[in-house]
Amino acid sequence: MRRFTVDDFDSWRAIARQALAAGIEPRALSFQRSKQEKTLFDDEANDDDLPSSRSASPLRLSKEFIALAQMISCHRDPNAFNLLYRLGWRVLNGEPLLLRDTLDDDVARAVRWQQQVRRDAHKAKAFVRFRPVGEQKFFAWHRPDHWVLKLIGPFFARRFPNVEWMIGTPLEIVTWNRRKLEYGAGMPTDPGADADACVDLWKTYYASTYNPARTNVSMMKREMPVRYWATMPETALIQELLTAADSRTAEMIIKGETPVHPANAGYTNLHGLNEAARSCSACELCEHATQTVVGRGPPSARLILVGEQPGDEEDRTGQPFVGPAGRLLEELIAEAGIDREWLYVTNAVKHFYFVERGERRLHKRPSARHLAACQPWLHRELELVRPVMVLCLGVTAAQSLIAADFRMNASRGKVFSVPHHQAVMATYHPSAIVRAPSAEAAARMRSELLANLRQAFELSVARPAQAGQNVKR
Ligand code: URA
Repeated sequence: MRRFTVDDFDSWRAIARQALAAGIEPRALSFQRSKQEKTLFDDEANDDDLPSSRSASPLRLSKEFIALAQMISCHRDPNAFNLLYRLGWRVLNGEPLLLRDTLDDDVARAVRWQQQVRRDAHKAKAFVRFRPVGEQKFFAWHRPDHWVLKLIGPFFARRFPNVEWMIGTPLEIVTWNRRKLEYGAGMPTDPGADADACVDLWKTYYASTYNPARTNVSMMKREMPVRYWATMPETALIQELLTAADSRTAEMIIKGETPVHPANAGYTNLHGLNEAARSCSACELCEHATQTVVGRGPPSARLILVGEQPGDEEDRTGQPFVGPAGRLLEELIAEAGIDREWLYVTNAVKHFYFVERGERRLHKRPSARHLAACQPWLHRELELVRPVMVLCLGVTAAQSLIAADFRMNASRGKVFSVPHHQAVMATYHPSAIVRAPSAEAAARMRSELLANLRQAFELSVARPAQAGQNVKR
């Protein structure tokens, strides 16, 4: 039995690729997680001991497998990497659809572990609290159940890019030196007042002598074709550096030690706001959706249409209203004679909420909690675009912007003044037409929606812009 020591997904993958290509059966090898105090691969087999692969063709593991593996590699169970290898082996050796078989013991366990890690990472993002431990230096102590720092490190680097910080946990630590993330051995307890010294110690000692991430990267570069690099943590960091939020804001958030919603961090233009929304984790929807779907249209628009949430196609493409409901909306916009230059389209909730049914992802209605988590993004969008009119499409958007007990039958087509805007109307969502119980009902709703769309557009043209509004004239 060959034993390999790995410490994260990347180091596991580099070895697993070779072992799978060499045809080594799961029972002939085992993986264990490095304790991190010692050099990687000390006294263990390493990847150089592996025979060269039987075939020259590249191993293809699906994106779905890779995504699952990234989460499971963070699970605390000592068999996490062995389970991954067994799954990879089975997929490549006659069971290509294995991951669909949720009754299979290995798959069921993998899905359970994935959910546990996801929940743990989400809790860490929500509960980590930094405290100042020196000039521009911050420390947070947290006790996760799993090895989640690799999952949450990039999130905090984006959030607090311009100060130095460390998150300590009993399993591992992560530090940010304003340029990159470093991971190292954990600390058994909260160092309390000594946290300052810990941050310094890390900087002057550990960072220069021990860096598993760096070891893994050079190994990966040796082992991995360039096409795999897109998923390397360092590559992601480049992107995060480019999109890092403004430092004053980050400091303000840390020092306040209160969970300030990231939308309220003082963004002065839509671009900055939307970039920040891409890393929002104010509720758990971000854990399942592919991406945040932000609004689209000119910042000088006079009319904003607010939908409910992205659907399946929107989630995949990152654009609002591009699926079936969006195509119908486009038709109605054209029929109403609305110039796209005057129009901005967005959603009350920025992540797709769905339930999986086999291959399909079925829309779920967002809850009041999801609406509340996303509301600050929408409010700030309205403040920045400052349109003359807002038209909510569907009851969810109306409940987010007008009133929690909004009823479509009672209030469709009425103009309301609300704290975040003085002229908001609501009408049906285009998908209500698609789902209408009869052709007659669909035709009636279509003409009512069209009338409301025209009405909102005409008001947006006729009403004078408010002081400070940057709308098209
Ligand atoms: N439905 C919505 O409410 N918004 C979209 O972006 C797509 C469908």
